[in-house]
Amino acid sequence: MVEKFKIQGGETLKGEVSIGGAKNSVLKLLAATILVKGCTKIYNVPELTDVSIMLNVLSDLGAKYDYNKAEKSVTIDATNITSITAKYELVSKMRASFTVLGALVSRCKEAIVALPGGCAIGERRVDFHIKGLETLGAKMKIENGYVHAKAPKLVGADIYLDIPSVGATENLMLAAVTAQGSTRIQNAAQEPEIVDLANFLNTIGADITGAGTSEIVINGVKLEQLHPAEYTTIPDRIEAGTFMAAVVATKGKALIKNIYPAHLTFFNDKLIQMGASIKLAEPTAIEVSCKNRLNSINFVTQPYPGFPTDLQAIAMTLLTTANGVGIITESLYENRFMQVPDLRRMGADIHQDRNHAIIKGVKHLSGANIAAPDLRAGAALVIAALMANGESIVEKLHHVDRGYECFEAKLRGLGAKITRFNDEDGVNVGVNNLKGVLNESRL
Ligand code: EPU
Repeated sequence: MVEKFKIQGGETLKGEVSIGGAKNSVLKLLAATILVKGCTKIYNVPELTDVSIMLNVLSDLGAKYDYNKAEKSVTIDATNITSITAKYELVSKMRASFTVLGALVSRCKEAIVALPGGCAIGERRVDFHIKGLETLGAKMKIENGYVHAKAPKLVGADIYLDIPSVGATENLMLAAVTAQGSTRIQNAAQEPEIVDLANFLNTIGADITGAGTSEIVINGVKLEQLHPAEYTTIPDRIEAGTFMAAVVATKGKALIKNIYPAHLTFFNDKLIQMGASIKLAEPTAIEVSCKNRLNSINFVTQPYPGFPTDLQAIAMTLLTTANGVGIITESLYENRFMQVPDLRRMGADIHQDRNHAIIKGVKHLSGANIAAPDLRAGAALVIAALMANGESIVEKLHHVDRGYECFEAKLRGLGAKITRFNDEDGVNVGVNNLKGVLNESRL
């Protein structure tokens, strides 16, 4: 069934919206439950296709799970891990599945995990993950597209990452949890999702300090010391930034609830520079509004706490109708300007040269038939359609469904004219078609 969004642009978004749990955190928390014998319960789990893929990976390894829709919780029972192999069919669907490597090595001393390969936004290598595990004493072999890690004894060590890679920091933290002695990850990623994983691991009995800084120290504990626990995922800062941008793009005013404003400092600052107003309304809510045409800005994407690459495409959409010329430099990925061709089709004036984009603000965008090329570029095009004159049809919604829970329902709650329909019979399919994604109980 081919589903599409029909969006009538030009509506001002107003009201309030509640942000869900962080996709990029919950996926790693789920992988980390492999370390625990017994039932671990995670709250604030968004209903996303990526979450369901991770649950399938865990289930394939022998863990059982139960998703409670009303509670937005998942209970994982990883008492019996019956396989050490994460299959290509699953890992190729979602790169984050590769995080089970560190967890399996910690728990089972051996893992066979499919290499995720490149993806549309860039090459996305995993060499730091592999080198880091070798430094901890694992024997690593790549064969038939799989990484085979054998680690009868992991010993803590100093690991320096060339780039503060989020995934490598996570995999190495997971592996080091049960290593003998202390591991120091230098030039570690500092994203809030890293802090969330460290907090979760400490909750189940690990000994980790320094998460959120560039040096993380993991003092190894015995596997038997790890125990079940309950834990709540942090809010999704990228979902929050997306809704803030949608409100600003349509000259609206809204309360963005259930967020940690400190996780969005850099993005907020850029929105303020563009002319938006951002007020802290409550400790976990901000009011965002915008009355006038935005001003152009320049920015470079950076690892946290710099400008998040995951909000780059969305910020580019804002620049398409801003006053003046804005320059974006994408420093993390080789191919993360996939929104550009469709933005141009909507009337944007964008010049792209390798990882630089120069955006000259035009008066307005006009609706068109467009297609989500990946998750964040897809969200950027939805925002472009909301701010455009006339109607747009957005295709390839499976990309958007990977990371935005009830996207159109939340936008409709703010007054957007957006419906999801099935192209074959034109029937409106209501809330996003994630029916059944997380309704299986396999506990
Ligand atoms: N890199 C290497 N070698 C490695 C690891 C990374 O060269 O061994 C390079 C990558 O190729 C990339 C850069 O380092 O150019 C950063 O990659 P990183 O490992 O930090 O990213 P990731 O862990 O693969 C996570 C998020 C991404 C987000 C990045 C950066 C998840 C599931 N994914 O990816 O989120 O863009 O961190 O913040 O956590 C998204 O949500 O749309 C998304 C792509």
